[in-house]
Amino acid sequence: IKRQQIKELFKETAFGNEVRVMGWVKTFRNNQFIALNDGSCMSNLQVVVDFTNTDEALLKRITTGAAIAVTGRLVESLGKGQSVEVKASDIEILGDSDPEKYPLQPKKHSLEFLREIAHLRFRTNTFNAVFKVRHALAFAVHQFFNNRGFVYMHTPVITASDAEGAGEMFKVTTLDLDDTPKKDDGSIDFSQDFFGRATNLTVSGQLEGELAAMAFGQIYTFGPTFRAENSNTTRHLAEFWMIEPEVAFFDLEDNMQLAEDMLKYVISYALNNCAEELEFLNGRLLEEEKNKPQQERSELSLVEKLNFCLGNDFVRLTYTEAIQILRSSKPNQKKQFKYLIDDWGADLQSEHERYLVEKHFKKPVILTDYPADIKAFYMRQNETDSEGRRTVRAMDILFPGIGEIVGGSQREERLDKLTERMRAMNIPEEELWWYLDTRRFGSAPHAGFGLGFERLVLFVTGMTNIRDVIAFPRFPKSAEF
Ligand code: 4AD
Ligand code: MG
Repeated sequence: IKRQQIKELFKETAFGNEVRVMGWVKTFRNNQFIALNDGSCMSNLQVVVDFTNTDEALLKRITTGAAIAVTGRLVESLGKGQSVEVKASDIEILGDSDPEKYPLQPKKHSLEFLREIAHLRFRTNTFNAVFKVRHALAFAVHQFFNNRGFVYMHTPVITASDAEGAGEMFKVTTLDLDDTPKKDDGSIDFSQDFFGRATNLTVSGQLEGELAAMAFGQIYTFGPTFRAENSNTTRHLAEFWMIEPEVAFFDLEDNMQLAEDMLKYVISYALNNCAEELEFLNGRLLEEEKNKPQQERSELSLVEKLNFCLGNDFVRLTYTEAIQILRSSKPNQKKQFKYLIDDWGADLQSEHERYLVEKHFKKPVILTDYPADIKAFYMRQNETDSEGRRTVRAMDILFPGIGEIVGGSQREERLDKLTERMRAMNIPEEELWWYLDTRRFGSAPHAGFGLGFERLVLFVTGMTNIRDVIAFPRFPKSAEF
């Protein structure tokens, strides 16, 4: 008989029929009840073993983590919380799991411990739920853009350019750097390198995305990006996935609307398609909240939080307005912020972003028109204001519990303004000649943004550390797997 997935069995009502399942043993109680999981759903299937007629040696091999195949009769379950169970007539051990050595015992393990055994943590309920939600969100992203006629572009991972101009790139070379002749000026001679020049892992697909948008009108990328920044935080990874739409003839207003629509679409997709997982994650969060002091506990459940986000327009305000709010805020006055806001021009720290979102507005916030000096070279310049200050058409979307989830802008489409800015920022024009060509031939207003995928997954799953929402997190000193 054909193997069925446990998820399918739960829908069966043909009681008495013989069925066959395969999966991993979660627990084995009283030599009689196996909780079996095959990954198709979060719930375990109860398999009832006729232990009086089963070989002792076989019973001993039914251990947590072992892979088994079960044939038996489907019966209606009397236990609560499950509709069916299987009365086993035959059990075959596919792969043993030594209970003395298997690190995942049937108890609650800390997330820190599970991070150290990232190769096995998929087998826990928490990570089962997290990665199902991650999958659903990725699917929803593609569906959203496909529905709107966007073209999915694969931008290169190896690139010669620094899209953000922040110098946070991993170098890629085939040279043995210990054994490569140096040039007269002491610099490395890359002429013997595979590419004949220095290359990096991409920090963003945006610049290449802009090239494509100038032909297809609307494109998006969805791929891995890399940042060699030494950030040991719960919000930063050295390797993360980014979604970057880029749209011709868009201004910043259009861009903000697209981002808000997309976030709401994918969150609502998760709510509609991951009910079982979100319910589990909600329970996990409640447990965690119990350990916190009363005043730090979240007022909303996970699902309420997601619905709240869907039901509200995101607040939109400029950086300058935000600075005014922050400057006169209680924590700033009382010097409770680590970084006090005195002057216009400083970049916002996460404590400021979180204050705006979680305390002041209590809603997702879109901040626009940041000072030019703290943003990337490609953002469209505004006219200087009455006080002679220069801002750019940037937008950052800030989410509760997360901070910045999206960064984007209307792009500088005017060649003279763009090259002027590049010169001021010491970005060599000759290295970006291909990018500047878009401004030479049929330049058009356009805009786009980048959504940090792991930050989205953090928000939707209610997890608190970004290292727990990507399978094999890369962060300083992490590359064990
Ligand atoms: O703000 P960022 O650096 O913007 C860009 O890279 C633009 N080129 C995007 C664009 O306009 N096409 O990054 C965009 C988003 C951030 O808002 C954040 O969500 C995420 O990427 N992000 C990170 N996520 C995890 N770890 C890191 N180290 C991240 N750096 C940025
Ligand atoms: Mg940013």
